[in-house]
Amino acid sequence: MVTPPAVPALLDPLVRQFLEIALPAVAEHHGTPLHLVFPQVFARNAGNLRDVLTARGIDHRLCYAHKVNRSQAFVREARRLGLDIDVASAGELDSALRAGFPAARVEATGPKGERFLKRLLAAGVTVNVDNRWELDRIIALAERPTPILLRVSGFPGTAASRFGMPPEEVERLWPVLAACRDSVELRGLSFHLDTGAHRDRLRAVAGCLALLESAWAGGLAPDVLDIGGGLRQVFTADPGAYDTYTRALRESLLDRQPGLAWSGATFGYRIGDTATHGTPVFHKYANTVPAAEELAALLDAEIPGHHRSLAAVLTDNLLQLWLEPGKALADHAGITVAAVEFTRDLPDGTVLVNLDLSRDQVTPADQETLVDPLLLPAEPAAPAPLGAFLAGHLCLERDMVSTRAIRLPCRPRPGDLLVFPNTAGYHSDLSAATAAMHPAPPRLAVTRERSTFSTGPDAGYRPTEEGPCAPTTTSPN
Ligand SMILES: Cc1ncc(COP(=O)(O)O)c(C=O)c1O
Repeated sequence: MVTPPAVPALLDPLVRQFLEIALPAVAEHHGTPLHLVFPQVFARNAGNLRDVLTARGIDHRLCYAHKVNRSQAFVREARRLGLDIDVASAGELDSALRAGFPAARVEATGPKGERFLKRLLAAGVTVNVDNRWELDRIIALAERPTPILLRVSGFPGTAASRFGMPPEEVERLWPVLAACRDSVELRGLSFHLDTGAHRDRLRAVAGCLALLESAWAGGLAPDVLDIGGGLRQVFTADPGAYDTYTRALRESLLDRQPGLAWSGATFGYRIGDTATHGTPVFHKYANTVPAAEELAALLDAEIPGHHRSLAAVLTDNLLQLWLEPGKALADHAGITVAAVEFTRDLPDGTVLVNLDLSRDQVTPADQETLVDPLLLPAEPAAPAPLGAFLAGHLCLERDMVSTRAIRLPCRPRPGDLLVFPNTAGYHSDLSAATAAMHPAPPRLAVTRERSTFSTGPDAGYRPTEEGPCAPTTTSPN
């Protein structure tokens, strides 16, 4: 089997130090597989975003999008840091309230059924209304004025969305809202775009600003603009390596190079006679711009039709900016650790490395990841690079942890550890299932004090009010 180019992952220095000095003992103590979260990295990410906002004098609320990870440690850390929280299910609402968030610091987004709406109204949180049905139900059910945002979508030139309401529909709601002030209080407008494209976000901002103005003309007084999440992560240590790998992969899909793709996988490429076309499913792994830089560029960009930056428009008009970052806060704040069970050589020379976890536990919504896991051999091993596919522990053909060939520094042996970097942003949780009665990997919170690491159950993590954080148990380094 061909040895593919490497795609080295970027590692946070704290995580790197943990791998170097503490991981083997933690894996020995707790077993594998394991999800490990690093609340201190989460806190640093939050600080970086906050610095960008405060440097521009922007009145803001940073709502941590809980959906990115089930970790209780992140939720408790978010509360300690003074962040707000965005919940998208009854389970997430419970988790936020359990962590001590007051209702005033909770916002609910996403589509909601009647039962969830009733819970939200009883709790008294801000409801980010997704559609007309939700609004009508709130008006019918609310016994006191409920703070709401309206989610807008379908801006000219942006992709269609199943969420939110088009601007024309939103504009028709002003008389309804003005007549129902005893059940709804319009705080503002929101959008969430599943794209890294600034141009689309700025168009959405311009669309919302026009709507805010018309709401004021309609007798309402909204002062919140919520720009959702979507700030990106940086996975790769070397963007050149990403390009080299994808070039080799595309050549291999055209059969010009020995196979780098597992049986039939095309990664979203369309295969022509002489070239591959389209955007691969793993394109986000090419990003090199940290979230804080991306946010700064967005705030400093001119809004179409306004001849002023977003930051200037917000401050000049006394608007409050809300953000709902998920993966940007979780960036580099988690890893997943698996153990090698055994390796297999297939008749055509393909090498399979079987692991003790499944694809769903380490890839977001079944997407391929395009940074390499790190192999930590249990015993010192001489370098002998090879290519291999990673196979999961479910007896399903589809349970391939990687459907692209991965470069490993040497042939793994049973008991060696494989570390998947940067998994806290959806990778560990978005499609996680306990198939075939395999238990979900335990989740541990890791904290560092000087050069000593403490590790304890995620659910037992308790930050001290002034930080740093205090896990409940300490395991050997
Ligand atoms: C409404 C809403 N807000 C925020 C987020 C978080 O997005 P991200 O993790 O890309 O920041 C999502 C993610 O799906 C969302 O649907």
